[in-house]
Amino acid sequence: MSDTPSSRPARPPHEGIPPVDLPDDVRLDTRAVREGLPRSRWGENSEALFLTSSFVQPDAASAAARFGNEEEAFIYSRFANPTVAMFERRLAALEGTEACIGTGSGMGAILLTAMALLKAGDHVVCSQSVFGATLMLLGRDLAKFGVQTTFVPPCDLPAWRAAMRPTTRLLFTESPSNPLTEVCDLRALADIAHEGGALLAVDNCFCSPALQRPVEFGADLIIHSATKFLDGQGRVVAGAVCGPRQLLDTQFMPVMRSAGLTLSAFNAWVVLKGLETLSIRVLAQSQRALELAHWLQQHPQVLRVHHPGLPSHPQHALAMAQQAGHGGAVLSFEVRSLQAGGVAAARAAAFHVIDSTRVLSITANLGDTKTTITHPASTSHGRLTEDQRQAAGIVQGLVRVSVGLDDVRDVMADLDRGLSTLPH
Ligand SMILES: Cc1ncc(COP(=O)(O)O)c(C=O)c1O
Repeated sequence: MSDTPSSRPARPPHEGIPPVDLPDDVRLDTRAVREGLPRSRWGENSEALFLTSSFVQPDAASAAARFGNEEEAFIYSRFANPTVAMFERRLAALEGTEACIGTGSGMGAILLTAMALLKAGDHVVCSQSVFGATLMLLGRDLAKFGVQTTFVPPCDLPAWRAAMRPTTRLLFTESPSNPLTEVCDLRALADIAHEGGALLAVDNCFCSPALQRPVEFGADLIIHSATKFLDGQGRVVAGAVCGPRQLLDTQFMPVMRSAGLTLSAFNAWVVLKGLETLSIRVLAQSQRALELAHWLQQHPQVLRVHHPGLPSHPQHALAMAQQAGHGGAVLSFEVRSLQAGGVAAARAAAFHVIDSTRVLSITANLGDTKTTITHPASTSHGRLTEDQRQAAGIVQGLVRVSVGLDDVRDVMADLDRGLSTLPH
């Protein structure tokens, strides 16, 4: 399989294929279950899974025209597939963007963004509280290719402004952050980016479009680890970038065609079906998380709780305005260590709480209908030095919970088993 070079930009081949026939004014919940491509000639009600690597062309002349981007058609599943296209259209509709490109993972979406927008000599400003692999990709891996990144505290707007350089092309953040749930002012960050001639990319994995649509606050690109809430049932690894059509077509698609960051049709189909229940899942999980956060806050063995829905959260008002009045389904809390012994005792206390659970899943994944629990300092942020972790507030006593659809009373009982038996 080789790509014929074309002087025209590499457009997604499904761009000219009509969308599913929906009235323009149907609402988001309806789009979440119906947006996509038209049904095939067989009239299936559930979207078809096109498990095919390539597409048969009617004749050699058509194949030439299609490879040259003169005619719209599916050619090869490395860069376009009808099931993937349905997922892309549905997610773009939910995020309120013109277009979307599915990728094999959330990190693939971030790498695609970097490869599409940056070259040697360019500069990125990034929140210091982003996912561990994102820190590594931007701070270590891209540095090898001459891209410099400055990391700043996510809520410190003067620090974002001060970090801007004439070569800054991209600002990158997550909101709320993992695991401390810090909430960034997205509108202010979009303004800083645009005044400096840069773009703002927001990793919207924690909220999903069910709670937060960063494009409404001026963000240019929305990144997803679809592995999280979009799938919602912990089945597949997947990702996506949402943004303006022109930008994705001209700068992202050429990289997509050559770099092989492809989302598989099967995984796209799983996430496509996940999107149908996204909003009811995320709202229910967010409500359970708030209940759990209030319960933890009054627990004598808990030092502090991080959840944007709590009035005590430092950016509570901003979170309510940006996240449709919801705090989200992820929280973290610091276990009160009953032993003297600093960092080691704090870690032992957190491990005790985690190991005392009988219902919760001990896994670093989040956004699942099953409630998950993890120790960020030794898992998602385990590659940082202890000093970096302390600076970022990822202390050893911290435990993160992603609240699922379990009965929240069972989650409380599971956590209380360890909290009420901490070693003295
Ligand atoms: C906020 C955030 N962004 C990106 C990623 C990376 O996603 P993936 O694991 O799908 O590559 C993760 C994964 O945990 C994440 O939590």
